[in-house]
Amino acid sequence: MSYALAFSATGPAERWAEAADTADALVAGEPDAIANMANVAALIWQAIPDLNWAGFYRFDGEELVLGPFQGKAACIRIPLDKGVCGAAARLRATQRVDDVHAFPGHIACDADSRSELVVPIVADDRLVGVLDLDSPLPGRFSAADQAGAEALVARIAGAFTA
Ligand code: SME
Repeated sequence: MSYALAFSATGPAERWAEAADTADALVAGEPDAIANMANVAALIWQAIPDLNWAGFYRFDGEELVLGPFQGKAACIRIPLDKGVCGAAARLRATQRVDDVHAFPGHIACDADSRSELVVPIVADDRLVGVLDLDSPLPGRFSAADQAGAEALVARIAGAFTA
């Protein structure tokens, strides 16, 4: 297969649909969760504009632990009662935050971040971790971005479990 990824969509729904198709192809037949997270973080970074961080935190049974990502070095461990990531994991519900400064307990890994989208990853009713996207633009993530990211995660959640 080709690793020269190309994305042509212009709107968020189309971008995410294209990213999900590519992610599905990238993880096909590969059982290693870290490898799959690494490739999916890289492709989201390439496919989705205006991000300053894109990646994964893995749930180790107690807290979230930094996984593969693109962007600046980030905080390594996040308890479930802390931050946007902890809220998404604890509530098993996507957190779409237009202004991270207004979110109580937000953890500022990169001072440039202004808005954030965190999607929980659940497979077989088990919390696997979260997909975390940060943007330097306030209100960067629309409902279409949320739906697209959730659909991508739901489609390939099993690839992140090994
Ligand atoms: N801002 C996140 C922490 C992770 S970094 O953004 C990569 C949070 O509040 O959980």
